[in-house]
Amino acid sequence: MMDSLILVNRTHPLPAPPDPAELAPVDEKHPDILLCRDARAWLERLLDAVGARGAIVPVSGFRSRAEQQAIWDSSLAEHGRAFTETYVARPGCSEHETGLAIDLAENRPDIDFLCPQFPDEGVCRLFRLAAPEFGFVLRYPAGKEHITGIGHEPWHFRYVGRPHAGEMALCGLTLEEYWERRGTRGRAG
Ligand code: DAL
Ligand code: ZN
Repeated sequence: MMDSLILVNRTHPLPAPPDPAELAPVDEKHPDILLCRDARAWLERLLDAVGARGAIVPVSGFRSRAEQQAIWDSSLAEHGRAFTETYVARPGCSEHETGLAIDLAENRPDIDFLCPQFPDEGVCRLFRLAAPEFGFVLRYPAGKEHITGIGHEPWHFRYVGRPHAGEMALCGLTLEEYWERRGTRGRAG
């Protein structure tokens, strides 16, 4: 089982991909978008709780390393290095490779794959506010780019499980900061 608290970033590459048996389609309308089963179940509960089914749609879930490489390469070619380093994790270092991360969009025509619209209003705002109660955190918040190494991504949610998501939200901590804090206390609990 993938540890729901796993830290994956530029300095913490993913040691091993998830067992394919751990992954399942996020919903029946998106059979190609996979998530770890726990994350998938809690996402469903969260969408139902805020009445967002259909209004918020999945854009990208689990990616193999090869898929992340293809996204990195096409972003570099299309958008250049500065954009790519801001919004695309290096292959081997993307949370999407864990199966615990999901990009979500407000359901409208022409959803951008790399930077989907997820406005801080309406049902998207309700979703973001409720997310920690269901084990999800906004992984790349504004103002913490120097810590996460990634630009502000209102669309990228990471399943860390409960109670961690609630504690992170309450204290305003990124996963890097939460790890640091837990490291000084030991990893128990
Ligand atoms: N967009 C995030 C950082 C990723 O590529 O994993
Ligand atoms: Zn993402």
